[in-house]
Amino acid sequence: MADDAPETKPVSIADFVARKKKGEKLVMVTAYDALFGRLVDESGVDAILVGDSVATAVFGHESTLPVTLDQMIYHAAGVRRGVKRSLIVIDMPFLTYQASIELAILNCGRALQETGVGAVKVEGGGPEMVDTVRALVRTGIPVMSHIGFTPQSVKTIGGARVQGRQKLDAERLLAEARSLEEAGAFALVLELVPAGVASGITRALQIPTIGIGAGPDCDGQVLVLPDLLGLNDTFSPRFLKRYAELAQDVRQAVGSFADEVRSGAYPDTAHSF
Ligand code: KIV
Repeated sequence: MADDAPETKPVSIADFVARKKKGEKLVMVTAYDALFGRLVDESGVDAILVGDSVATAVFGHESTLPVTLDQMIYHAAGVRRGVKRSLIVIDMPFLTYQASIELAILNCGRALQETGVGAVKVEGGGPEMVDTVRALVRTGIPVMSHIGFTPQSVKTIGGARVQGRQKLDAERLLAEARSLEEAGAFALVLELVPAGVASGITRALQIPTIGIGAGPDCDGQVLVLPDLLGLNDTFSPRFLKRYAELAQDVRQAVGSFADEVRSGAYPDTAHSF
């Protein structure tokens, strides 16, 4: 998009869903602050996920479980300030929507009210979560669902494992996907799902699927920004493709700064008043 006239009309939920009908792939990346929100928005993505992956990708936690709603709101409000066009989705953190439907409505509603973003994302496709999604949508809260490997359940799943390899598990995922669509979710993230299973789910639904480690046939793809930029250079799962090696650039740039400060080369007269 960079060379064409910039499309400044914000991406709505309806636009997002319509892309599937037109056969246009959807692009989503994560961002956690106004700076990267602006940069990825200017790159022409369709959606920006303020993911609870901020915990693992940026803040050094082992899982996403420690993130609080106040922290997610702080990050999402920052992203919102940097973004003009992309649809912004806030990830609802662990324990903010599972305990009861009432709690889910109050917390998801608060997340939208206090950040100005367009939608929430919640994990899970069991019967309770389907009821929660239905109630959220009836309240007027757009919901992106997320099934397959659901990081907030990492302790019960026992690690970041591919889900749906067995026939029964694959059938369960398809049934969950259908139920979430029927409950009103506008899109569905499929994480760590065999490509064939994700392909079948994608064909069965009217709403778009967004894959991460779910093969090429999903309606769109999402990656965690520090991973795709090569900032997290110790993390290299099979599904991840790095489009830059910024960790090396950061070490090199900061190393050069340190060298020049120590040698007295910086600041020189050109950088002094
Ligand atoms: O938190 C996150 O970044 C996510 C993506 C991996 C989909 O949930």
